[in-house]
Amino acid sequence: MSRLSKTRQLALGLRGVKNFFGKKPLCVSFEITYSCNARCQHCHLGGMIKDEKRASPEKFGLRARELGPVVAQISGGEPLLRKDLKDIIQAIYRPQRPPYIVITTNAALLDEKKYRELREAGVDEFSVSLDYPDERHDKFRGIPGLFRKIENLCLALKGEQDKGITLSCVVHRYNYQELIKLAQKAYEWEVNLNFSTYTWLRTKKKDYLIPPEELPSLEKMIRQIQEFRQAHNTIFTSDYVLKGMVEFFRHQGQPNCQAGVRFLVVNPDAQLSPCGLILKNYSNLRQLQAEFSAHNHCTACFTSIRANSEKPPWVLLKDNLRAI
Ligand SMILES: C[S@@+](CC[C@H](N)C(=O)[O-])C[C@H]1O[C@@H](n2cnc3c(N)ncnc32)[C@H](O)[C@@H]1O
Repeated sequence: MSRLSKTRQLALGLRGVKNFFGKKPLCVSFEITYSCNARCQHCHLGGMIKDEKRASPEKFGLRARELGPVVAQISGGEPLLRKDLKDIIQAIYRPQRPPYIVITTNAALLDEKKYRELREAGVDEFSVSLDYPDERHDKFRGIPGLFRKIENLCLALKGEQDKGITLSCVVHRYNYQELIKLAQKAYEWEVNLNFSTYTWLRTKKKDYLIPPEELPSLEKMIRQIQEFRQAHNTIFTSDYVLKGMVEFFRHQGQPNCQAGVRFLVVNPDAQLSPCGLILKNYSNLRQLQAEFSAHNHCTACFTSIRANSEKPPWVLLKDNLRAI
């Protein structure tokens, strides 16, 4: 977490407790467009969507007030493709109050000027996707020069305190051996690092799952990550999530999904979906919970939004205290 005043930390904590017991979401992902300027190997999105029905910034602001999450993630598609992104942030932002605002981006359109403009508008954190510690990232994302672009941005901000940049890596069969190198890169660039878990729901590619015979190797890598975190505290992903990641790959699934209760998605037109992989058109939270969450038996992901929103209360408390 970054540059949070004590008042804001308290407000976020109180909102967390209220939402946890009131069955309201801890995290809402505003997927403000499905258009994307990348063609990632692990994702079904990519390319521009013509005539997408897009809600106004005011409408997203109203949704943020109505759902009242602790964390508002602005995602997509690629959120920086929306020309009114700054207005959307300003419509969601409340001085000294929740939500904590995170932009999830591939950073192809994020330069220092844009970074500062969006920070000024109220962004607490940029979650910048990075899947490899070198140019293999460009190929994986279909954007030449992307790795260097991210590196240049991080280096331009080096030395600044609380810059609110977290690199976000989706762990899969073809990159898990690189996790420690990613941790070293993030440390060298003075930014944080978070891990999420690959799901086949987007592309149906099951070969990206880590097979049983490679799990000891993943566990060995995770031990190195835990040691690195102990030494440097630049890795956000907690032991609870890392353990869940191994279990997810072991069983090729994770039961008790709380989509619609602990987290959910606002679509580009501001209708509601339980998650970014099961798109629906619910008009309110009550309807989503009654028609989807009450009958949800999906086990197919353990992505970061799910893993972090579904933590038991004592883990939430412990991990958040560590983060601040
Ligand atoms: C869909 S992207 C949208 C935001 C932005 N365009 C980006 O690339 O960060 C949001 C996050 O989902 C992750 N993601 C994409 N495909 C995934 C998959 N199959 N399993 C898990 N996470 C995935 C991306 O790596 C990214 O961190």
